Amino acid sequence: MMDDQLTRAAAVLAAARHIFGFTGAGVSAESGVPTFRDAQTGLWSKFSPEQLASQAGFAADPGFVWRWYAERLASIQTVRPNPGHLALARLQALTPAFTLATQNIDDLHERAGSRDVAHLHGTIARFHCNGCGAAYAPTAGERSAGLPPICPLCGDYVRPSVVWFGELLPEEEFERAARAARACDVALIVGAGGLVYPAAHLPVLAKERGAAVIDINPDQGPMAMLADIALQGPGGVLLPELVRRVEEIRAAPQP
Ligand code: OAD
Repeated sequence: MMDDQLTRAAAVLAAARHIFGFTGAGVSAESGVPTFRDAQTGLWSKFSPEQLASQAGFAADPGFVWRWYAERLASIQTVRPNPGHLALARLQALTPAFTLATQNIDDLHERAGSRDVAHLHGTIARFHCNGCGAAYAPTAGERSAGLPPICPLCGDYVRPSVVWFGELLPEEEFERAARAARACDVALIVGAGGLVYPAAHLPVLAKERGAAVIDINPDQGPMAMLADIALQGPGGVLLPELVRRVEEIRAAPQP
């Protein structure tokens, strides 16, 4: 059954002119980065999103928020891309047009070799002033301090350049992803819970425009429901096999 589904998905991907790749925390899970909503290991099962990912939480305790993101950044810097990230980078190289949009704030796609990744929820290794928006590069000492640095331009606190609840998504990245979702002939979703909008609307947009939707996830969540082909399993196992089959089809002599 799974073998048939993989064969179908590989045929669809091998014939694609423009693939829209859309990833969530699940694609980095096998690298050791926790997801948000897993009942046991998910970040939001242990910490409150209101405290750690909102303006109100930052105003209430800037040091707590600063230290939490500093620890997450330090742990992300110690992990490596997994075979799922690597397979997506290979697929990009094989496909005429491939736009990758991720909800992840890590840089594992880039480290695996993916190009022009649209980071819909920002990037944990970048920082800006919470008041005036100016970019800021903290020193190692400032990163490990108990409080955020102060912006030299306006005196407000510096914060990580990640999107918090209630904030707008980076416009250029979201627009680039939305254009690809509208234009693609195949949407490939990996490790996305499908509960956080507007990002979760992008695969819906692709489906509405007639794209074939492939989902890779061990769980049968909202994205599997949307998908034409739902491959149930971990990205680090299924993606390398899928891309191997795409390579095989691409390498075969055309009739
Ligand atoms: P979630 O934690 O909501 O969902 C992670 C998904 O990954 C789930 O559907 C899991 O079943 C799946 N998963 C787990 N292990 C996997 C594996 N090895 N291979 C493939 N899939 C796997 O994470 P996101 O959908 O990324 O936003 O969450 C969306 C947003 O909510 C995040 O970007 C973050 C969070 O609050 C902000 O902070 C604004």
